[in-house]
Amino acid sequence: MTDTTFEPLGMPHMGTGSSIGFGADYNPDQWPREVWDEDVALMREAGVNVVSVAIFSWARLQPTADTWDFAWLDEVMDLLHANGIGVDLATATASPPAWLTTAHPEVLPVTRTGETLWPGGRQQWRPTSPVFREHALRLADAMAQRYADHPALVAWHVSNELGCHNVWDYSDDAAAAFRAWLRERYGTLDALNAAWGTAFWSQRVGDWAQVLPPRQSAAQSNPTQQLDFKRYSSDALRDYLRAEREVLRRHTPRVPITTNFMVMRTPEGMDYASWAREVDFVSNDHYVHPGPQGHDELSFSANLTSGIAGGDPWFLMEHSTSAVNWQPVNRPKAPGELARDSLTHVAHGADAVCYFQWRQSASGAEKYHSAMVPHAGRDSDVFRAVADLGRTLETLAPVVGTRRSPARAAILFDWDSWWTSEIDSHPSDRLRYRQEALDWYSAFLALGVRADVVPAHGDLSAYDVVVAPILHVVPADLARSLAEWVSAGGHLVTTYFSGIVDQDDHAWLGGYPGAFRDLLGIRIQEMAPLFDDETPRLDDGRPVSLWADPIDVVAAEVEVLSTYVDGAQAGRPAVTRRPVGQGSASYVGARLGAVGIAPTLAQILDGAGVHSELPVANRGEVELTVRTDGESDYWFLVNRTTEAIEVTGLHGQALIGDLSGEVLTLARRGVAVLRMDV
Ligand code: GLA
Repeated sequence: MTDTTFEPLGMPHMGTGSSIGFGADYNPDQWPREVWDEDVALMREAGVNVVSVAIFSWARLQPTADTWDFAWLDEVMDLLHANGIGVDLATATASPPAWLTTAHPEVLPVTRTGETLWPGGRQQWRPTSPVFREHALRLADAMAQRYADHPALVAWHVSNELGCHNVWDYSDDAAAAFRAWLRERYGTLDALNAAWGTAFWSQRVGDWAQVLPPRQSAAQSNPTQQLDFKRYSSDALRDYLRAEREVLRRHTPRVPITTNFMVMRTPEGMDYASWAREVDFVSNDHYVHPGPQGHDELSFSANLTSGIAGGDPWFLMEHSTSAVNWQPVNRPKAPGELARDSLTHVAHGADAVCYFQWRQSASGAEKYHSAMVPHAGRDSDVFRAVADLGRTLETLAPVVGTRRSPARAAILFDWDSWWTSEIDSHPSDRLRYRQEALDWYSAFLALGVRADVVPAHGDLSAYDVVVAPILHVVPADLARSLAEWVSAGGHLVTTYFSGIVDQDDHAWLGGYPGAFRDLLGIRIQEMAPLFDDETPRLDDGRPVSLWADPIDVVAAEVEVLSTYVDGAQAGRPAVTRRPVGQGSASYVGARLGAVGIAPTLAQILDGAGVHSELPVANRGEVELTVRTDGESDYWFLVNRTTEAIEVTGLHGQALIGDLSGEVLTLARRGVAVLRMDV
């Protein structure tokens, strides 16, 4: 795969250069020309300063293989520029036109069971198809040549949500690319056979041609093959991103390049921690799933995006003003939610707040998806809320460019562990990696303690407490570096199904959790998942679900923090902590859920001397996030309750919010931003 050294350029400047970016995907090609004038007038009214254009415009730009139509886009670019609006211009390659998929059906993705996906939706392409690449890169090249010097161009938007619909491709192109990826990783067939454990079920391969993607097989596919296919699939899309980026860089070496990630609840296929260094600035799309943890999940995703961006500011490329169209029931946002959701992203480092999309489509699959200008038009609550937010964001100009001020605690997030812990043939098929991580995050929020969500293989030296939920894949070097960090005074917390396998998904032997057994001072002979109707209790009454490891304490200094009082493990430890030098290593052998985690987390944080920065009365009511430029700290306070609340004992200058004396009043769903000298 292509390997290049890439020096990131950073974020583009929007508007005057010091404003938070505010805008949307803009699809003028869905509308008659006269609507465009109203569009730009309303954009100005709302304070829009940046839009993403031409994301799905391939068929319009290139109606046949040999004809091009840029005139309309020239006019759109000129019109936007004349109105002071910058353009994050798409390469337009996300949805190949019918002429291409008809002439070359070999660009279409193939499912695990061998069905070729038909055109008719979008993203019907394989990242490894040489034919697709030839056509898509030709388009990217034409776009870059044509608009290289256009004054509206502030950034490039590669494709769209790479992997959203086509991450898992089992085609023959994919098989060839997978083999090349495996050769690079393992070098020899012997090494591949060893890593894949092919002595099992007669799976030995004697020739590279015998190596396949994990296509639908008679029984469960080899798990290491499955894991490597996930790693490969993420890398294949990343390689495609690099290919478009190289084309753009050739023509416009000073225009920053991004692509919109999907750090949100479900898409698991892209290891964005490894993608972040391939773009000039990180962009993310996020959509809320309404429910009790809906806003916690938004905050978790925004926080993780910041972690992926290394604490630098990032670009919120898409979220929704109100309802989406792709959940089973698509509920509009309640009053105040639009601003609260957008500002929570800003709290976690977003320097741009953009939506899908500017004007709600009148036709097509997304006609019931909200937008900045809804079907109801300018005279609507949504547009008024949008324009209000535009004014609010102007007051936040001072935070542009500020970085995240690190918390003392962190939650580790690891794609290898996400992928591997949910493979079939495990002790339980109920385990959900991301949900466990989110539950720990919700517990931090409930305690009012800030925690950064960070990729698992980064530098932890800034943190006093690190939670590693279901850190399932633990290569020897990761086990060593975590043990060293603990010896140096760090407090590590890990959970059930952690430390179980190495990088090849081979079990660490001698008892669980192999990679962490010595560090934790415990040993588990057999994992013990629970049936859905089993909810044994801990000594303080908290119920557990999913999992209840039978723990044997093997190191004398281990303290038992919680014990089971009933169920198969009655009388045995459920939560343990081993003091190690100035640090400690704790183990939670059960699923406690967000509510049940909080008391355990409080105990561990207390032992580590990590406390909430919020007044006691407001812990759990308010989410606190801090951005900093070294001279000023910016405290973002988000009301997590459904009532108006008061936060006392605060000082500083309110950029947003009502601070009088030392009392801050936060409306229901309200957000305040305070500037304080460091
Ligand atoms: C994704 C896509 C957009 C749009 C939205 C709808 O984020 O990138 O084009 O389909 O979903 O929520």
